Parts: sequence; structure tokens; C-alpha cells
Amino acid sequence: MSAPFTIAIDGPAAAGKGTISKAVAAHFGFAHLDTGLLYRAVGAKVLLGVDPARAARELTADDLAGEELRSPEVAQAASKVAVIPEVRAALRDFQRSFAQRAGGAVLDGRDIGTVICPEAEAKLFITASPEVRADRRFAELSASGAATSRAQVLADVKERDARDRNRAEAPLLPARDAVEIDTSDMSIEAAIAAAIAIIEARLP
Ligand code: CDP
Ligand code: CDP
Repeated sequence: MSAPFTIAIDGPAAAGKGTISKAVAAHFGFAHLDTGLLYRAVGAKVLLGVDPARAARELTADDLAGEELRSPEVAQAASKVAVIPEVRAALRDFQRSFAQRAGGAVLDGRDIGTVICPEAEAKLFITASPEVRADRRFAELSASGAATSRAQVLADVKERDARDRNRAEAPLLPARDAVEIDTSDMSIEAAIAAAIAIIEARLP
């Protein structure tokens, strides 16, 4: 496909956005951008003492790699810098140009369907209960050897959900034309199949 075709995949933490986005991008041969990684990279810089707006303006591709970006501390820092309008503005153009690339693009985050790509050809809003999402994130963190508890992960998920939903700029909410997939009782394979079917129906 040569004309831009943008797929927006939004939803709360650990709903399955990233896994679904990667599978969808591989299925259609599209490029994928995990926009949470941009906010995580800014959050990580702020934990080192850099000014948030400056960290966002000066972000480079090199800042987007590293296991430390997956940590719960960086996730919290990301959601704190994500309320700052200057940070969101500094990251906007990069996300929009990524979406416009020839060959199709999948972007996952919180505000892709509402703010970054309101004209996206396909929009999905992936959800699951906070308890299910905390279980999934806890399993991932335990497997990577992180010392944490399920209760702590659930508290973190709920705190981040509240901050993401209640912020003034670009809050987490489904776009009016997004199709919602509740993955609470779905296997990841079933969720991927549902996403692909919805997108296929929107292809030219
Ligand atoms: O990107 P996001 O934070 O929304 O979630 P993810 O990183 O894609 O998924 C978090 C974890 O939940 C991963 O280990 C997924 O494999 C798992 N998952 C699952 O077990 N069942 C689903 N229906 C969706 C995700
Ligand atoms: O992987 P997980 O879903 O836990 O989080 P993430 O997608 O890596 O996003 C980390 C944080 O960045 C979120 O809690 C949001 O506060 C922020 N974020 C955002 O505000 N807008 C986006 N498009 C993506 C992430």
C-alpha cells in the first residue's frame, strides 16, 4: 500500500495495545510506533534531573532503547511528564510524521485516535479490568526478576489510569469512532484476530 493508512490503537496500561499493535503491523506489513516509549524516555531523563520540556524537545532515537524504560518507576514518571502540555507538543510532530509514512503505520498510546491522528483510517480502543491488567503486568515484571508485589502493581496501574484519564490535555478516552475490544476474558491470540478483522474491513 503506498498511500498513508493509519491504525490508531489506544487504551490503558497493560491492556494489550503493544502486543496487538506489533502483531497487526507484522500482519499488514506496516511500521509500528510505541508512543508510550517516547513518554517513558522523557520520564527517565526527568528522573536524572533534566527539565521535562527540554528532555522532550531534545529526544533522539538513542533515548528509546534500554531495559530501564520498562520499569514501574519510569512508567510513573512517564505519566507525570505526560500531563505537561509542552512535553506533549514537543512529541506531536514526530508522531504525526510517523503516521504519514508511505506503506501504512500503526501507532499505540493514549491519544492517537483523539489528538495525534484524528483522521486515522482504523481506530481501536483496547481495555481490560484493572485487576486483569495488573496480573499481566505483574507476570511480566516477575519474569524479568523485578522485586514487586501484585498489590503494588495494581496500585500503580490504578494511579496511572487516574492520572491519564483526568488530565486536561489529551486525556485517555476512546475516540467517538473507535471500536472497543475488552480483552479481560480473551486470549492474546483472540484479541489479535479480532483487531485484524476490524482493520481488514476498513482497508481500501
Ligand atoms: O501495551 P500494553 O501496555 O497495553 O500491553 P502489552 O504490553 O501488550 O501487554 C501486557 C501483557 O499482557 C503482555 O505480556 C501480553 O502478552 C499480555 N496479554 C495477555 O496475556 N492477554 C491479552 N489479551 C492481552 C495481553
Ligand atoms: O505500557 P503501558 O501501557 O503501561 O504504558 P505506556 O504505553 O508505555 O505509557 C506510559 C505513560 O505514557 C502512560 O501512562 C501515559 O501517561 C503516557 N502516554 C501518553 O500520555 N500518551 C501516549 N500516546 C502514550 C503514553
